[in-house]
Amino acid sequence: FLQKVWAPGTQCIAKCDHTKPKKQELSFRKGDILTIVCDGESKGAYKAKHNKTGEEGLVSASSVREREAIRIDPKLSLMPWFHGKISGQDAVQLLQPPEDGLFLVRESIRHPGDYVLCVCFQKEVIHYRVIYQENQLTIDEAISFHNLIDMIEYYMKNKGAICTILSKPKRKAGTKSAEEELSKGGWLLDMHLLKLGDAIGEGEFGAVLQGEYMGQKVAVKNIKCDVTAQAFLAETTVMTKVQHKNLVRLLGVILNNGLYIVTEFMAKGNLVNHLRTRGRSVITVHHLIQFAFDVCEGMEYLESKKLVHRDLAARNILVSEDNVAKVSDFGLAKVDLKKNDNAKLPVKWTAPEALKQNKLSNKSDVWSYGILLWEIFSYGRTPYPKMSLKDVTEQVEKGYRMASPEECPPSIYVLMKSCWEADPGKRPSFKKLKEKLEKELRTAGSL
Ligand SMILES: *[C@@H]1O[C@H](CO)[C@@H](O)[C@H](O)[C@H]1NC(C)=O
Ligand SMILES: *[C@@H]1O[C@H](CO)[C@@H](O)[C@H](O)[C@H]1NC(C)=O
Repeated sequence: FLQKVWAPGTQCIAKCDHTKPKKQELSFRKGDILTIVCDGESKGAYKAKHNKTGEEGLVSASSVREREAIRIDPKLSLMPWFHGKISGQDAVQLLQPPEDGLFLVRESIRHPGDYVLCVCFQKEVIHYRVIYQENQLTIDEAISFHNLIDMIEYYMKNKGAICTILSKPKRKAGTKSAEEELSKGGWLLDMHLLKLGDAIGEGEFGAVLQGEYMGQKVAVKNIKCDVTAQAFLAETTVMTKVQHKNLVRLLGVILNNGLYIVTEFMAKGNLVNHLRTRGRSVITVHHLIQFAFDVCEGMEYLESKKLVHRDLAARNILVSEDNVAKVSDFGLAKVDLKKNDNAKLPVKWTAPEALKQNKLSNKSDVWSYGILLWEIFSYGRTPYPKMSLKDVTEQVEKGYRMASPEECPPSIYVLMKSCWEADPGKRPSFKKLKEKLEKELRTAGSL
């Protein structure tokens, strides 16, 4: 019998209630998150910290399990009760046998753009038309919602103008409830413990706020649109799978008013602004190599996990209070991978084969990494200065490559160029790049 050994910092989920602790033991409830502090004195025991109460004490290994990654699964849905375009009759069929509060949502066939909420009540199925007007949804015009998730959340707690509180979603065949999976995996956080602060940035999909969760500084992305939230679920499931000091860490998510994604807070913001605002007088070449090395380590880890970032650029690198660079927004880009949506590709960072044939791989990430190196060593300049996107695409195809940034060590420029080999197979791996940068660091450090 092999006892798994958990390293300090491992986050675990309680498998059961333990509310009458003996001396030195920790009290917890099923589903609570506990962080391993160290090995306990006795066998099979650990000293752990309770994430909510902050108390420390002993737990037996058998009463907790490690917080698990969520499987990336297209069936995972934030709206498992949404059945798309089905008829009223089909809805009634699906809601058999009737049970008070059993419900589903369908798209209205008669009124395109509107939805219908179908609820069982006293053996009948009642159909409520959900009117879509001015970007809002409403059933009774007295109260309106930004999206279906909010609406269902509301009617699961309040009867409002409908016959009964919604109590049981009729799940669409082939879907899995994201909420259940996230909760089982231990990734669902408690809205009441989140304190929201100022906006720290405007993401493409809404504001990013600073916040505090259980005394820990966090960054919070709130995605209100249900379709986008569903897409972000993919990013989030990727984030549950990875843990590395050079990747921005996910604390968990909250399903409330759309989706909240809670990550560690990176005090010094994104790398482009960090470099631009401080410049050469503050940031030395040695620092620059360190940033390049940090990013490379994070990318090597993603590569080893067979994950492709797809949008590697200095704007997606964040810097911590103690100057560690970490890769963020991984996984996000993969959401529209299948749509062949070239319009959204960040052209100046994207490898030619990815632009032309949509071939995204660890090697197209390496190309982007070369551009990122150029950004770093030019202190945050925009690549291909003064060139239009069309020119960039054409010229790069013909073999044009950017010149070395001013005062960039020649050996680093050689690395950049190796990332921009036209043949993806000739580009180095992140592992190789890391070895080279390690050498550069040693040289720079000894100067
Ligand atoms: C739990 O606590 C640990 C240690 O303080 C912290 O690193 C981690 O982010 C916390 N997790 C959650 C989900 O709050
Ligand atoms: C890069 O991806 C290719 C194809 O998916 C794979 O064969 C190769 O092992 C990957 N390289 C590394 C270093 O992981």
